[in-house]
Amino acid sequence: MIRCFRPTVRNCYIWHLLLPANTDIIRLDLYANPNDTMAELKFFTERLKLRLVEMADLEAVHVLHLMAETDQYNTLGIPKDLEETNLIVDGWINDHQKRTIKNYTFAIELEKGGFIGLIALKLSSSKFNSAEVWYKINVEHWNKGYATEAIKAVLNFSFSKLKLHRINAGCAVENQASIRVLEKAGMTQEGRIRQLLPLVTGWMDSFHYAILDEEWKA
Ligand SMILES: CC(C)(COP(=O)(O)OP(=O)(O)OC[C@H]1O[C@@H](n2cnc3c(N)ncnc32)[C@H](O)[C@@H]1OP(=O)(O)O)[C@@H](O)C(=O)NCCC(=O)NCCS
Repeated sequence: MIRCFRPTVRNCYIWHLLLPANTDIIRLDLYANPNDTMAELKFFTERLKLRLVEMADLEAVHVLHLMAETDQYNTLGIPKDLEETNLIVDGWINDHQKRTIKNYTFAIELEKGGFIGLIALKLSSSKFNSAEVWYKINVEHWNKGYATEAIKAVLNFSFSKLKLHRINAGCAVENQASIRVLEKAGMTQEGRIRQLLPLVTGWMDSFHYAILDEEWKA
């Protein structure tokens, strides 16, 4: 159930998305102005806070992108300097200023404080009503269930608030941790795309995963 209260601060609306007890979002605050540009959007899960990336995250994103472990199965590559990361973060923030957001990039924080990673949702054109999700966690926080907790929150947002039909994800076939995350989140492996990914080690096949709205709600 979604309830809308208005206005609170600076003519903003606050949406409270109330979700069934078996979902992982505890609270979702969506501050949107009347022309539907989201000034602020936050999810709270049991242990995490997800909020839209800000310029204040630049250093933490740069550290995340510099890690060989996070780069291993990713095609972005290690940034050559902070300016390269700055351009990327700036692009994400610009995407959040658009009248209709098509590209959400969330910082993942521990609820007690501290940036630990990123999770993003890139929407298709409206006719397809789908999106692609990707995520990265700082290696110091791996294997604690954080990526799984974050993706479940984003799937919930995708299906409950955005009313999307299908969420896709790609994953290098040797990326065992990511495969596990996608499967723990209830996504189905639908196929293998040959030599899609230009990784530092060479071309690698990619698994294609997806989940449908009816599967999420089941
Ligand atoms: C993929 C990634 C986000 C996972 O984050 P995480 O917070 O450690 O994920 P979780 O703790 O929720 O789950 C990881 C699961 O993978 C398992 N796992 C980790 N390494 C593994 C390996 N080499 N083989 C098999 N399973 C492995 C863990 O045991 C855990 O499963 P479990 O809960 O059943 O024990 C993280 O490794 C990362 O940031 N990698 C670099 C970026 C990346 O590859 N992103 C994915 C692109 S789609």
